[in-house]
Formats: sequence, C-alpha cells, structure tokens
Amino acid sequence: MIIAIGSDHAGLPLKRSLASALEAMGHQVLDAGTHGPESCDYPDFAHAVAAKVAAGEAALGVLACGTGIGMAMAANRHPAIRAAVLHGPTEARLTRQHNDANIACFGARTTGEEVALDALRAFLATPFEGGRHRPRVDKLSPVALA
Ligand code: RB5
Repeated sequence: MIIAIGSDHAGLPLKRSLASALEAMGHQVLDAGTHGPESCDYPDFAHAVAAKVAAGEAALGVLACGTGIGMAMAANRHPAIRAAVLHGPTEARLTRQHNDANIACFGARTTGEEVALDALRAFLATPFEGGRHRPRVDKLSPVALA
C-alpha cells in the first residue's frame, strides 16, 4: 500500500517510528515532512498529506502532531478526507469500519509509541463495513448535503 505521512516538529519522532514500522510491513511511505526539529506549522503538512490521499496518490494517510487534533482539523477541510484522531486500536478499528476513515492522526504528547503503532496496525487491517454506514459516510460530504 502507498501511505502518505506527515508531522510537525512535535510529532516528528512519532512520525519517524511509524514510518519505519510501515516500511518494515512492506508499505511504500510518501513522507511529506517535516524533516527537522525546527518549529513549524502543522496545517502545512496536514494539507500536503490530505492532498495526496484525495488525489489517489496514496491509499491512506498518517499524521502526527502534539495532540493529533490540529492535524485532523486541517485534513478534514478537504472534502474527500475523513481524518480521525486515534488513541488506541478500538478507535482505529471502528473508524475504519463505520466512518471509512482515510487518515489516522496521532498525538505524540498524548499517545505512546507502542499504542500508536497498535492503532496504526488495526487501522490498516480493518476494511470499511459499508452497508448501513455507506449513506452515513456519504452525508459527511458537502455535495450530499446540497
Ligand atoms: C505544536 O506546539 C502543537 O500546537 C501542535 O503539534 C498540535 O498539537 C496542534 O494541534
């Protein structure tokens, strides 16, 4: 799978761990930055990853910042993106099954590396259930509300 990944300075160490784990699993990682510890603006990287997922250049995305919240806020401005903040595998599984989430967001200041990795594994392994969830997910789109 091709997976786009990004972080700000606060999420950089977690992003590096998750990227290494993804590569060890055999995935191709597109790293949109940041690449160094200097303070930077999380929306820049959220938009870069969201654009790759929305364009189909990556099947899924992963974002890390201090809390994961700012990344999710920015990524979810893109109509095709359903970004979820994950604190563990249960949220990861359910947001794939029910919300068809396509970007996983993590907080380096709120979620330990091992738990984040467990959540990421669950996120990648779980398909969207469809069925009754399909029309609900469709209603997330502004087009469906028009
Ligand atoms: C950076 O200090 C912090 O605000 C950012 O990483 C993130 O937590 C925002 O949501």
